Amino acid sequence: MGIVQSNNLLPEMPDHIAIIMDGNGRWAARRSMNRLKGHEQGAKAVREAVKGCLELGIPYLTLFAFSSENWKRPQEEVNHLMGLFKFFIKRELNELKKSGVKVNFIGHINKLPQDVQSLVELALNETRQNTKLVLTIALSYGGRSEIVDAAKRLAVKVKAGELEPEDICEENFAPSLDTAGIPDPDLIIRTSGEKRLSNFLLWQCAYAELVFQDVLWPDFNKENLENALDEYHSRCRRYGAISV
Ligand code: FPP
Repeated sequence: MGIVQSNNLLPEMPDHIAIIMDGNGRWAARRSMNRLKGHEQGAKAVREAVKGCLELGIPYLTLFAFSSENWKRPQEEVNHLMGLFKFFIKRELNELKKSGVKVNFIGHINKLPQDVQSLVELALNETRQNTKLVLTIALSYGGRSEIVDAAKRLAVKVKAGELEPEDICEENFAPSLDTAGIPDPDLIIRTSGEKRLSNFLLWQCAYAELVFQDVLWPDFNKENLENALDEYHSRCRRYGAISV
């Protein structure tokens, strides 16, 4: 890993990495396989990403697993993905629990099939006490609707007389989002060569560094994660100010 070292001090690691896991379908097509196989391999790469973050001491990882637009995919693919989420939770929960991962979910979880919702609840309850890595899985998630939901929550408070409209500010808006309590991502990685955010963490990405990689998600491994970190460390984050 080519992380630049100066005066023996390692550069600051990001607190929060968020990943748009893209390219499962193309990975399968290149092997003349059904696209569902691509998602299965993609679930294995999820394990790699979690392991990599644990090894590197990254405290927050957020994965875009199913967007609010993904419901438009063929029913067979949607069912397969729901099955994979269940399989992943059932199979990985013990390991995640043992390795200190706190599992979290964002998105319209109430739109998921009941059996997926039950496993989501189980994962939340079983890992609640963990502190090493907060793994947030975005399911039926869309950034715009998350912002609209937050606005509705604040509107309810205004209607109840608990908040004045002029007191609405960034500081009380952010805790009304699904990501309340989670720091904004420092680094967003998108695989497969596409260069868009696709409605992911629209509020939270304000100052994130964006890294686009050509690797297809099922092939993503620790080396890709380290390469993304190298690119992150080569950037100069100014937050609208000037470098000194
Ligand atoms: C995008 O690739 C990927 C998805 C819509 C699904 C992501 C799901 C997984 C990685 C599976 C398991 C996840 C968890 C959390 C267990 P695409 O299908 O749009 O690929 P394409 O653009 O090449 O067609």
